[in-house]
Amino acid sequence: MTAQLIKGKPISEQIRAEIQEETARLKESGIVPGLAVVLVGEDPASKVYVGSKEKACHDMGFYSEVHRLPAETSERELLALIDKLNNLSTINGILVQLPLPRHINEKAVIDAISVDKDVDGFHPVSVGNLVIGDDSLLPCTPAGVIEMIKRSGTDIAGKHAVVIGRSNIVGKPVSMLLLRENATVTICHSRTANMEAIASSADILVVAIGKAKAIDKRYVKPGAVVIDVGINRLENGKLAGDVDFDDCLDVAGAISPVPGGVGPMTITMLMKNTLTAAKRAHR
Ligand code: GUN
Repeated sequence: MTAQLIKGKPISEQIRAEIQEETARLKESGIVPGLAVVLVGEDPASKVYVGSKEKACHDMGFYSEVHRLPAETSERELLALIDKLNNLSTINGILVQLPLPRHINEKAVIDAISVDKDVDGFHPVSVGNLVIGDDSLLPCTPAGVIEMIKRSGTDIAGKHAVVIGRSNIVGKPVSMLLLRENATVTICHSRTANMEAIASSADILVVAIGKAKAIDKRYVKPGAVVIDVGINRLENGKLAGDVDFDDCLDVAGAISPVPGGVGPMTITMLMKNTLTAAKRAHR
């Protein structure tokens, strides 16, 4: 049996349609969600991401502004801009594109963003709320993973979910979200003993280690739902996930491809967070 494909694009389009509808309704009461994106320097990949975020805002009917600052911008100048954005009522979400130039302390910048406008979900208070189970804005990629699992028809409650990878931006938060959905969660990482035995007992396997095709069918239980968060550039220029997709296709029950899997979900969840922040600002 070939696995069901869990594609990010149709799920993303479905969520975007929901956001557009709700945004149109909010506009009738004079509320327009607003996102400010801040880009410091000239990183080519970051420029592309920021452009995509700007376009997505336009497509959703949001107000957006992009602050493109030179690489020499000081930490003080950046913090002053964040302070200004924190106090603007037209702005509901603030996203500072990472990575930042080396002379700027990333943590100081993330900490300066108002928790109510933290649409990345990276602020320590947002992370704390995520663990406690309070209503924080959820980090975009992990929230996208959960939407993909749910909207492909998988019940998470009671399942054994194994997350491979323990990064602050994916592994840890996705584990917490799976726990919130009542999965039994195991986190594996580079020092895990018997990873193959643990992973192959998972009903839901989420992989985020940043190593091309590292997870093959020996790690996959027949019928398991496999979500691949990795995006790696191969020597031949092609993109590959952390999962050996071709090898796992006949074993998994459902599997997300790379590209076309989790990728399209991240910006969509950013849009959803911006909408949520706008609704909360006006309640
Ligand atoms: N750079 C790459 N991905 C992200 C993201 O999700 N948020 C921010 N702020 N920067 C990024």
